[in-house]
Amino acid sequence: MPCSIAPGKILLFGEHFVVKGKPAIGMAVSVYAKTCVSKGVGIVESGQLGILVDLSSRVVNDRGVHKIIEELSKRGILKNNFHAVIESQIPIGSGMGSSAAVSSALAHALTVFSGFEPSKELVWEVSFEAEKIYHVNPSGIDNTLSVYGGIILYKDKSFRRLEIKWPEDIYIVVVDSRIKRSTGQVVADVLSRYEKYPTIYSRIYEAGEAIVTEALKALETGDFVRLGELMDINHGLLASISVSSSAIDRIVWSIREAGALGVKVSGAGRGGIVIALVEEARRDNVSNRVRELGLEPLLAKPDLKGVRALSPYG
Ligand code: MEV
Repeated sequence: MPCSIAPGKILLFGEHFVVKGKPAIGMAVSVYAKTCVSKGVGIVESGQLGILVDLSSRVVNDRGVHKIIEELSKRGILKNNFHAVIESQIPIGSGMGSSAAVSSALAHALTVFSGFEPSKELVWEVSFEAEKIYHVNPSGIDNTLSVYGGIILYKDKSFRRLEIKWPEDIYIVVVDSRIKRSTGQVVADVLSRYEKYPTIYSRIYEAGEAIVTEALKALETGDFVRLGELMDINHGLLASISVSSSAIDRIVWSIREAGALGVKVSGAGRGGIVIALVEEARRDNVSNRVRELGLEPLLAKPDLKGVRALSPYG
Protein backbone atom coordinates (compact mmCIF):
# COMPACT_ATOMS: atom_id res chain seq x y z
CA MET A 1 0.00 0.00 0.00
CA PRO A 2 1.69 3.30 -1.09
CA CYS A 3 2.06 5.92 1.62
CA SER A 4 3.45 9.43 1.20
CA ILE A 5 4.47 12.10 3.67
CA ALA A 6 4.81 15.87 3.33
CA PRO A 7 6.22 18.35 5.87
CA GLY A 8 4.56 21.29 7.57
CA LYS A 9 6.24 24.68 7.68
CA ILE A 10 7.09 27.65 9.87
CA LEU A 11 7.87 31.25 9.06
CA LEU A 12 11.24 32.07 10.60
CA PHE A 13 11.07 35.77 9.69
CA GLY A 14 8.96 38.32 7.86
CA GLU A 15 5.27 37.42 8.39
CA HIS A 16 2.95 40.41 7.94
CA PHE A 17 5.78 42.52 6.47
CA VAL A 18 5.60 40.20 3.45
CA VAL A 19 2.05 41.43 2.78
CA LYS A 20 3.60 44.84 1.93
CA GLY A 21 6.24 43.36 -0.39
CA LYS A 22 9.00 42.75 2.17
CA PRO A 23 10.95 39.45 2.16
CA ALA A 24 10.22 36.47 4.42
CA ILE A 25 12.09 33.29 5.30
CA GLY A 26 10.14 30.03 5.56
CA MET A 27 11.30 26.57 6.54
CA ALA A 28 9.83 23.09 6.01
CA VAL A 29 9.95 21.24 9.33
CA SER A 30 9.97 17.59 10.33
CA VAL A 31 6.32 17.49 11.37
CA TYR A 32 4.31 15.55 8.79
CA ALA A 33 1.01 14.79 7.11
CA LYS A 34 0.81 11.21 5.87
CA THR A 35 -1.54 9.59 3.35
CA CYS A 36 -1.83 5.87 2.55
CA VAL A 37 -3.91 4.63 -0.37
CA SER A 38 -5.44 1.19 -0.99
CA LYS A 39 -8.12 -0.12 -3.39
CA GLY A 40 -11.62 1.21 -2.77
CA VAL A 41 -14.64 3.08 -4.11
CA GLY A 42 -13.32 6.67 -4.20
CA ILE A 43 -13.01 7.60 -0.53
CA VAL A 44 -10.68 10.04 1.23
CA GLU A 45 -10.90 10.01 5.01
CA SER A 46 -8.97 11.67 7.78
CA GLY A 47 -8.08 10.08 11.11
CA GLN A 48 -8.96 13.37 12.82
CA LEU A 49 -11.86 14.68 10.70
CA GLY A 50 -13.65 11.58 9.34
CA ILE A 51 -14.91 11.21 5.75
CA LEU A 52 -13.72 14.11 3.56
CA VAL A 53 -14.92 12.82 0.18
CA ASP A 54 -16.92 9.71 -0.74
CA LEU A 55 -17.47 9.54 -4.49
CA SER A 56 -19.62 6.37 -4.18
CA SER A 57 -22.30 8.30 -2.26
CA ARG A 58 -21.50 11.79 -3.64
CA VAL A 59 -20.38 13.21 -0.30
CA VAL A 60 -17.99 16.19 -0.44
CA ASN A 61 -17.12 17.51 3.02
CA ASP A 62 -13.81 19.01 1.93
CA ARG A 63 -13.72 20.98 -1.33
CA GLY A 64 -9.92 21.16 -1.40
CA VAL A 65 -9.62 17.36 -1.30
CA HIS A 66 -12.29 17.10 -4.01
CA LYS A 67 -10.28 19.55 -6.14
CA ILE A 68 -7.20 17.31 -5.89
CA ILE A 69 -9.25 14.33 -7.10
CA GLU A 70 -10.65 16.44 -9.97
CA GLU A 71 -7.21 17.73 -11.00
CA LEU A 72 -5.64 14.25 -11.02
CA SER A 73 -8.64 12.80 -12.90
CA LYS A 74 -8.51 15.62 -15.45
CA ARG A 75 -4.89 14.72 -16.18
CA GLY A 76 -5.83 11.06 -16.79
CA ILE A 77 -3.97 9.94 -13.67
CA LEU A 78 -6.73 8.96 -11.25
CA LYS A 79 -9.73 6.59 -11.53
CA ASN A 80 -12.39 6.22 -8.83
CA ASN A 81 -10.87 3.06 -7.34
CA PHE A 82 -9.02 4.40 -4.29
CA HIS A 83 -9.41 4.60 -0.53
CA ALA A 84 -7.05 7.18 0.97
CA VAL A 85 -6.48 7.62 4.70
CA ILE A 86 -4.86 10.82 5.98
CA GLU A 87 -3.09 11.09 9.35
CA SER A 88 -1.41 14.34 10.34
CA GLN A 89 0.87 15.49 13.15
CA ILE A 90 0.47 19.12 12.05
CA PRO A 91 -1.85 21.28 14.16
CA ILE A 92 -4.77 22.52 12.01
CA GLY A 93 -5.30 26.26 11.49
CA SER A 94 -2.20 27.29 13.42
CA GLY A 95 0.00 28.66 10.60
CA MET A 96 1.99 25.46 10.02
CA GLY A 97 0.75 24.83 6.50
CA SER A 98 -1.40 21.85 7.48
CA SER A 99 -3.66 22.10 4.41
CA ALA A 100 -0.69 22.31 2.00
CA ALA A 101 1.04 19.32 3.59
CA VAL A 102 -2.14 17.23 3.53
CA SER A 103 -2.80 18.22 -0.11
CA SER A 104 0.77 17.39 -1.17
CA ALA A 105 0.86 14.03 0.61
CA LEU A 106 -2.56 13.14 -0.83
CA ALA A 107 -1.71 14.16 -4.42
CA HIS A 108 1.59 12.27 -4.21
CA ALA A 109 0.13 9.07 -2.74
CA LEU A 110 -2.83 8.99 -5.19
CA THR A 111 -0.42 9.44 -8.12
CA VAL A 112 1.86 6.61 -6.94
CA PHE A 113 -1.20 4.38 -6.29
CA SER A 114 -2.34 4.99 -9.89
CA GLY A 115 1.05 3.91 -11.27
CA PHE A 116 2.27 7.35 -12.40
CA GLU A 117 5.42 9.31 -11.60
CA PRO A 118 4.67 11.87 -8.85
CA SER A 119 6.93 14.67 -10.11
CA LYS A 120 7.43 17.67 -7.82
CA GLU A 121 5.95 19.93 -10.53
CA LEU A 122 2.76 17.86 -10.73
CA VAL A 123 2.29 17.71 -6.95
CA TRP A 124 3.01 21.47 -6.68
CA GLU A 125 0.42 22.34 -9.36
CA VAL A 126 -2.28 20.12 -7.89
CA SER A 127 -1.69 21.16 -4.27
CA PHE A 128 -1.74 24.84 -5.28
CA GLU A 129 -5.20 24.33 -6.84
CA ALA A 130 -6.37 23.04 -3.45
CA GLU A 131 -4.65 25.92 -1.61
CA LYS A 132 -6.69 28.35 -3.73
CA ILE A 133 -9.80 26.78 -2.24
CA TYR A 134 -8.58 26.76 1.36
CA HIS A 135 -7.07 30.27 1.42
CA VAL A 136 -7.96 33.60 -0.15
CA ASN A 137 -5.13 34.57 -2.50
CA PRO A 138 -2.47 32.08 -1.25
CA SER A 139 1.16 33.11 -1.70
CA GLY A 140 2.22 29.55 -2.58
CA ILE A 141 4.82 29.58 0.19
CA ASP A 142 3.12 26.73 2.10
CA ASN A 143 2.82 24.24 -0.77
CA THR A 144 6.26 25.20 -2.12
CA LEU A 145 7.73 24.18 1.25
CA SER A 146 5.64 21.03 1.60
CA VAL A 147 6.56 19.88 -1.94
CA TYR A 148 10.24 20.88 -2.15
CA GLY A 149 11.22 21.09 1.55
CA GLY A 150 14.17 23.19 2.68
CA ILE A 151 14.51 26.82 3.69
CA ILE A 152 13.35 29.49 1.27
CA LEU A 153 13.53 33.22 0.84
CA TYR A 154 10.23 34.56 -0.42
CA LYS A 155 9.76 37.99 -1.97
CA ASP A 156 7.24 39.42 -4.43
CA LYS A 157 5.77 35.99 -5.18
CA SER A 158 9.12 34.43 -6.09
CA PHE A 159 11.17 31.90 -4.15
CA ARG A 160 14.86 31.21 -3.70
CA ARG A 161 16.02 28.06 -1.98
CA LEU A 162 18.76 28.69 0.58
CA GLU A 163 21.45 26.05 0.88
CA ILE A 164 22.04 26.00 4.63
CA LYS A 165 24.04 23.55 6.71
CA TRP A 166 21.83 23.03 9.74
CA PRO A 167 23.76 21.80 12.81
CA GLU A 168 22.82 18.47 14.43
CA ASP A 169 22.45 20.05 17.86
CA ILE A 170 20.05 22.89 16.99
CA TYR A 171 16.29 22.35 17.16
CA ILE A 172 13.25 24.37 16.25
CA VAL A 173 10.77 23.91 19.08
CA VAL A 174 7.22 24.60 17.90
CA VAL A 175 4.46 25.27 20.43
CA ASP A 176 0.81 25.39 19.37
CA SER A 177 -0.85 27.96 21.66
CA ARG A 178 -4.22 26.30 20.79
CA ILE A 179 -5.63 29.82 20.48
CA LYS A 180 -7.65 30.00 17.25
CA ARG A 181 -7.88 33.17 15.21
CA SER A 182 -8.69 34.13 11.66
CA THR A 183 -5.57 34.92 9.62
CA GLY A 184 -7.65 37.12 7.28
CA GLN A 185 -9.00 39.11 10.22
CA VAL A 186 -5.56 39.66 11.79
CA VAL A 187 -4.05 40.67 8.43
CA ALA A 188 -6.92 43.12 7.77
CA ASP A 189 -6.57 44.63 11.24
CA VAL A 190 -2.80 45.09 10.84
CA LEU A 191 -3.30 46.71 7.43
CA SER A 192 -5.85 49.16 8.84
CA ARG A 193 -3.38 50.16 11.58
CA TYR A 194 -0.74 50.58 8.86
CA GLU A 195 -3.08 53.08 7.15
CA LYS A 196 -3.55 54.94 10.45
CA TYR A 197 0.19 55.24 11.25
CA PRO A 198 1.97 54.96 7.87
CA THR A 199 5.18 56.78 8.84
CA ILE A 200 5.66 54.59 11.92
CA TYR A 201 4.56 51.31 10.32
CA SER A 202 6.68 51.78 7.20
CA ARG A 203 9.74 52.04 9.45
CA ILE A 204 8.78 48.95 11.40
CA TYR A 205 8.40 47.08 8.08
CA GLU A 206 11.81 48.34 6.93
CA ALA A 207 13.29 47.03 10.17
CA GLY A 208 11.61 43.68 9.37
CA GLU A 209 13.37 43.69 6.01
CA ALA A 210 16.72 44.50 7.66
CA ILE A 211 16.22 41.53 9.99
CA VAL A 212 15.81 39.22 6.98
CA THR A 213 19.03 40.60 5.43
CA GLU A 214 20.90 39.96 8.70
CA ALA A 215 19.26 36.54 9.14
CA LEU A 216 20.45 35.44 5.69
CA LYS A 217 24.03 36.27 6.72
CA ALA A 218 23.63 34.48 10.06
CA LEU A 219 22.23 31.38 8.34
CA GLU A 220 24.97 31.36 5.72
CA THR A 221 27.76 31.74 8.32
CA GLY A 222 26.13 29.33 10.80
CA ASP A 223 25.83 32.00 13.51
CA PHE A 224 22.84 30.59 15.39
CA VAL A 225 23.32 32.83 18.43
CA ARG A 226 22.81 35.83 16.15
CA LEU A 227 19.91 34.09 14.39
CA GLY A 228 18.19 33.64 17.78
CA GLU A 229 18.70 37.29 18.69
CA LEU A 230 17.19 38.29 15.35
CA MET A 231 14.14 36.14 16.14
CA ASP A 232 13.75 38.03 19.43
CA ILE A 233 13.92 41.36 17.62
CA ASN A 234 11.40 40.11 15.04
CA HIS A 235 9.03 39.14 17.86
CA GLY A 236 9.36 42.65 19.30
CA LEU A 237 8.36 44.14 15.94
CA LEU A 238 5.39 41.77 15.68
CA ALA A 239 4.30 42.79 19.19
CA SER A 240 4.57 46.44 18.14
CA ILE A 241 2.09 45.84 15.29
CA SER A 242 -0.26 44.15 17.80
CA VAL A 243 -0.04 40.52 16.73
CA SER A 244 1.23 39.15 20.02
CA SER A 245 -1.02 38.83 23.09
CA SER A 246 -0.61 38.22 26.82
CA ALA A 247 -1.03 34.44 26.28
CA ILE A 248 1.52 34.42 23.45
CA ASP A 249 3.97 36.58 25.39
CA ARG A 250 3.66 34.25 28.38
CA ILE A 251 4.76 31.33 26.17
CA VAL A 252 7.53 33.44 24.58
CA TRP A 253 8.93 34.57 27.94
CA SER A 254 8.75 31.11 29.54
CA ILE A 255 10.78 29.67 26.66
CA ARG A 256 13.20 32.59 26.70
CA GLU A 257 13.81 32.14 30.43
CA ALA A 258 14.38 28.42 29.86
CA GLY A 259 17.42 29.29 27.75
CA ALA A 260 16.30 29.33 24.10
CA LEU A 261 18.58 31.17 21.66
CA GLY A 262 15.55 33.05 20.32
CA VAL A 263 11.74 32.92 20.36
CA LYS A 264 8.95 34.49 18.32
CA VAL A 265 5.35 34.15 17.35
CA SER A 266 5.14 32.69 13.82
CA GLY A 267 2.46 33.26 11.19
CA ALA A 268 -0.51 35.58 11.64
CA GLY A 269 -0.15 35.81 15.43
CA ARG A 270 -2.66 36.56 18.25
CA GLY A 271 -2.65 32.78 18.65
CA GLY A 272 -1.34 30.01 16.43
CA ILE A 273 2.23 28.92 17.02
CA VAL A 274 5.33 30.15 18.83
CA ILE A 275 8.70 28.95 17.54
CA ALA A 276 12.02 28.81 19.37
CA LEU A 277 15.61 28.16 18.33
CA VAL A 278 17.03 25.81 20.93
CA GLU A 279 20.41 24.14 21.49
CA GLU A 280 20.39 20.46 22.41
CA ALA A 281 21.73 21.27 25.91
CA ARG A 282 18.60 23.40 26.62
CA ARG A 283 16.08 21.21 24.80
CA ASP A 284 14.72 19.35 27.84
CA ASN A 285 14.63 22.50 29.92
CA VAL A 286 12.59 24.29 27.25
CA SER A 287 10.31 21.27 26.73
CA ASN A 288 9.60 21.01 30.46
CA ARG A 289 8.71 24.71 30.70
CA VAL A 290 6.31 24.33 27.79
CA ARG A 291 4.65 21.34 29.48
CA GLU A 292 4.34 23.34 32.72
CA LEU A 293 2.17 25.74 30.69
CA GLY A 294 -0.09 22.77 29.80
CA LEU A 295 1.15 22.75 26.18
CA GLU A 296 3.09 20.23 24.05
CA PRO A 297 6.46 21.04 22.48
CA LEU A 298 7.09 19.71 18.95
CA LEU A 299 10.83 19.19 18.46
CA ALA A 300 11.61 19.82 14.81
CA LYS A 301 14.50 20.07 12.37
CA PRO A 302 14.40 21.43 8.83
CA ASP A 303 12.98 18.93 6.33
CA LEU A 304 15.16 19.17 3.23
CA LYS A 305 13.36 16.68 0.96
CA GLY A 306 9.70 17.70 0.89
CA VAL A 307 6.93 15.36 -0.21
CA ARG A 308 8.02 11.75 -0.76
CA ALA A 309 7.04 8.11 -0.62
CA LEU A 310 7.28 6.60 2.81
CA SER A 311 9.43 3.52 2.58
CA PRO A 312 7.69 0.43 4.02
CA TYR A 313 11.02 -0.33 5.68
CA GLY A 314 11.00 2.89 7.76
C1 MEV B 1 0.36 33.98 7.74
O1 MEV B 1 0.88 32.66 7.90
C2 MEV B 1 1.42 34.90 7.22
C3 MEV B 1 0.96 36.33 7.01
O2 MEV B 1 2.12 37.07 6.60
C4 MEV B 1 -0.12 36.44 5.99
C5 MEV B 1 0.34 36.18 4.58
O3 MEV B 1 1.52 36.32 4.26
O4 MEV B 1 -0.54 35.84 3.76
C6 MEV B 1 0.46 36.94 8.29
